[in-house]
Amino acid sequence: MHDFSEKVAVVTGGASGVGRAIAAKLAGDGAKVVIADVDAASIAKTRDELASQGLTVDGMEVDVTRAESVDALAERVFAAYGNVHLLFNNAGVGIKEAKRRIWTIPEKDWQWTYSVNVIGVTNGIRAFVPTMLERGEEGHVINTSSGNGGIASLPTTPVYASSKAAVTSLTEVLHFQFLMDGAKLQAHVLFPGPHLVNTNILNSDRVRPDAFRIEGQAPATYVDMRALAESAGVEFKLTEPEEVADMAIEGVRDGRFWILSKLGKSDERLRTRTQSILARENPEPTQ
Ligand SMILES: NC(=O)c1ccc[n+]([C@@H]2O[C@H](COP(=O)([O-])OP(=O)(O)OC[C@H]3O[C@@H](n4cnc5c(N)ncnc54)[C@H](O)[C@@H]3O)[C@@H](O)[C@H]2O)c1
Repeated sequence: MHDFSEKVAVVTGGASGVGRAIAAKLAGDGAKVVIADVDAASIAKTRDELASQGLTVDGMEVDVTRAESVDALAERVFAAYGNVHLLFNNAGVGIKEAKRRIWTIPEKDWQWTYSVNVIGVTNGIRAFVPTMLERGEEGHVINTSSGNGGIASLPTTPVYASSKAAVTSLTEVLHFQFLMDGAKLQAHVLFPGPHLVNTNILNSDRVRPDAFRIEGQAPATYVDMRALAESAGVEFKLTEPEEVADMAIEGVRDGRFWILSKLGKSDERLRTRTQSILARENPEPTQ
């Protein structure tokens, strides 16, 4: 798909960070964009700020962890716009887990992260793809993974990394199934980067529902991205969300499944991991 004008796009997690930048870029390219997010105040703020730049986006509240909420979103979008051509399953969260051992992490941290990062994506696919297929038009499903887990796992963030490994895997399968069915839809997996992206992800706890809160545990906030990089043992450099949005849009235009920057350490990590598997050699912790 080269021309986005009049195409309908839904971006989950569209009220902040990477999703917001993608929404702004698509709106600038003439698409009809729905930002779907659990944070109503941020939706309103984003709509106002984009409007002041001459960009119109629609906003709808959704909790991607709940199937009925995503179904209701899909119903509203198809009723209002007829079809969806670009589905960005992008909403994602991170918990404060750097350096915590896997066996010390409470069940609710696993449940919440997997509910948003993995089930959120499958809910999006389940709610939107059948009608997108039925309409028979060209379309794209872009799932946001991460180099951390989606390519190779950092040793310090087990919950996040393993959730993103699932996103890469399920998106590969989606791609295979679209091909086997001769569908007019294409799947893509997006790896924001090449470095840590300057977003609000470190304050994900602001949108953690009560059901996933842990009694007696204060909401987690990192000091900043530099502190995260230090605790994870990775180089501190920041990528801006707008750069990720440019990469994502270009990847869709080019029809590339792997939307992954050539910069940064991903290639090196992937090579090291693949070589260790092929050689049946025990892996070393990734840096
Ligand atoms: N920031 C990074 O360095 C980085 C790196 C790789 C991948 N990613 C991925 O990029 C995606 C976007 O994250 P970001 O960095 O822009 O963070 P962000 O916190 O700025 O944006 C995430 C958005 O998702 C929304 N959200 C959270 N839970 C939701 C739910 N249950 N239902 C609907 N919306 C919900 C939040 O309200 C927020 O607006 C995520 O999937 C994240 O894992 C981020």
